[in-house]
Amino acid sequence: MRYLGNKTKLIPFILGEVERLIDRPGTACDPFAGTASVAAALKRSGWAVHSGDLLSASYALQVARVQLDRTPRFDRGLLPSGVANGARSVSYRDLLAWLSAQTKPGFVSEHYTLAGAEGRAHGRMYFSPSNGGRIDAIRDLIQGWESQGRITRSQGQLLRATLIEAADRVANTTGVYASFVKTLQPNAARTLELKPIRPTPRPRGSGRSRAFRGDAAALLEKVGTIDLVYLDPPYNSRQYPGYYHIPELLAVGWSDPPRIRGKTGLIPDEALRSDWCRKSEAEGAFREVLEASDGRHVLLSYNDEGLLQEQQIEAALRERGIADTYRVVDRPYKRYRADADGPARTYARDDVKERLYYIRCR
Ligand SMILES: C[S@@+](CC[C@H](N)C(=O)[O-])C[C@H]1O[C@@H](n2cnc3c(N)ncnc32)[C@H](O)[C@@H]1O
Repeated sequence: MRYLGNKTKLIPFILGEVERLIDRPGTACDPFAGTASVAAALKRSGWAVHSGDLLSASYALQVARVQLDRTPRFDRGLLPSGVANGARSVSYRDLLAWLSAQTKPGFVSEHYTLAGAEGRAHGRMYFSPSNGGRIDAIRDLIQGWESQGRITRSQGQLLRATLIEAADRVANTTGVYASFVKTLQPNAARTLELKPIRPTPRPRGSGRSRAFRGDAAALLEKVGTIDLVYLDPPYNSRQYPGYYHIPELLAVGWSDPPRIRGKTGLIPDEALRSDWCRKSEAEGAFREVLEASDGRHVLLSYNDEGLLQEQQIEAALRERGIADTYRVVDRPYKRYRADADGPARTYARDDVKERLYYIRCR
């Protein structure tokens, strides 16, 4: 999924450092998991991972990629009789094929496409009208199955994650939901299609991995003593709930229609706003997370344009761990750009340095 700070392209760099610093996999915590790219990669290489994030959209992706060890099958009664052709259960793939064809305009169509009066009033062209109807029908079915107990919680999260990724592929945005494009782009004109997400198999001999939703420091406290703490917090002032409010809405669901506001239809997000995105609070947030963590090794991903200064990071890490084990490794990285060149751009370079900071604590 298109996501600010997504580390998919940096996995070889990050795993390479983990392998260089730590002789064998054990237990790890990735409390800023986002798309779960790093947590899934750690799991694949034998780590038992506790992943977490403030956002429910991330939680769905974590359950799909990190918590589940294999693809579940589903109750055949979910499909209308005649479609399930006598089998006792239905595969994820077949369920997705049927779900992809459903349509029933509802809240998303009304508020985030030009098919609805509310969407038109604000010009919100986040999706084509037909894709809006598909998103509504699929979300509604998943939520109904969950509330009737016809699918398990993890099956529900897997289906939500699948919908979030499918919707993102046809979203009429430049990659984040803080704005929409005013003409329908080629990706948004395509028909929404649910594509399977492959859960990460658990390598033989490694412990179970789990997904959480909530604050990083709280998760680290809960997890207790572990081998590796991998930290990938936000590094600039962009608050994730405002940049991903539509995935979040699809993840949280609703029984009463949610109250949304502003030109882009934001959801209430005060509780999801992060101190890491506030210059005056970021250092305190970093120290709080270090205080809460009891990892033998701590690795921090951060880039050289972040709100925290390198000296602040170094001082906090040296104080928390064995001072002379402190290391920094740099890797040049092409910036993820959701916006175009122009006067509104707030940064000057496209090449940033992605850094890994390391300290051993025990
Ligand atoms: C740089 S992104 C992580 C990207 C992730 N490693 C990936 O590859 O997709 C930072 C994440 O931290 C989350 N976040 C921000 N503040 C948080 C907090 N206090 N506790 C937990 N998660 C937080 C955001 O929601 C966002 O998903």
